[in-house]
Amino acid sequence: MVLSMNHFPIGVFDSGLGGLTAVRELRRILPNENIVYFGDTGRVPYGTRSAETIEHYAFQDMRFLLSKKVKLIIAACGTVSSVAAGAATGLNIPFTGVVVPAAHAAAAETRNLKVGIIGTSATIRSKSYEEELHRINAHIEVFSRDCPLFVSMVENGFTSPDNEITKAVVEHYIRPFVASGVDTLILGCTHFPILKEAIANVLGARTSLIDAGYEAAHYAKSLMEKGGIMNSSTEAGKCSFYVTDQIQNFSSIAGLFLGEDITGDVNRVDLDTL
Ligand code: DGL
Repeated sequence: MVLSMNHFPIGVFDSGLGGLTAVRELRRILPNENIVYFGDTGRVPYGTRSAETIEHYAFQDMRFLLSKKVKLIIAACGTVSSVAAGAATGLNIPFTGVVVPAAHAAAAETRNLKVGIIGTSATIRSKSYEEELHRINAHIEVFSRDCPLFVSMVENGFTSPDNEITKAVVEHYIRPFVASGVDTLILGCTHFPILKEAIANVLGARTSLIDAGYEAAHYAKSLMEKGGIMNSSTEAGKCSFYVTDQIQNFSSIAGLFLGEDITGDVNRVDLDTL
């Protein structure tokens, strides 16, 4: 029997754990889809590197996903989406990053037209979210800030809003947004929603937080509907995870975040052998 493309998995990649914010939402809204997740844990973080290096990594990451016969790719990484979306040129399957979906969600959400953006240094330097927001509505006032310590905090499991280190670092980066009066904050790096509670504790309930991974998952669903490539199987979809460094750390933090034990589904991959 020849399987149609509809049965192929969705490919999701990030430098590490951050893209799981998209996976968690994909699992919820598309429970019958199979997912292949690639986390480049051996080379995280991406956000402190040059655009050329990030583009090179993104190209290799996507080549790996293509070897798994995916039907759509989500660059569930704000940094790749901001500075290396060009690596997706020439793909013959649908592709989305996180910048466009998150910017649209923020523009629809803000009431006072003051939007904050946080991301990695590469993302903030690129002005990707800012430009996209202004394409949608030129009157939006933007306040942006890079939060370079957040990615390593998440990768090392410092995610509890009660942890003293987490609280202090989040306070340091997020407090200035209170004074600027933003009513919406884009969590422009997919690692950041893992710190959502700690961030919300500083901003208070009146500021809406836009989760870039969540928005990308919904956008991917709309692309699949338009392209007629939804999986019509009624069986629950399977998820497999590939990382470029030791699997233990990833398995335990990812399992906690996804709310399921994924230990048996995590594999280590060597990109040099592809
Ligand atoms: N999740 C990536 C992002 O969205 C983290 C980047 C990094 O590895 O620095 O930007």
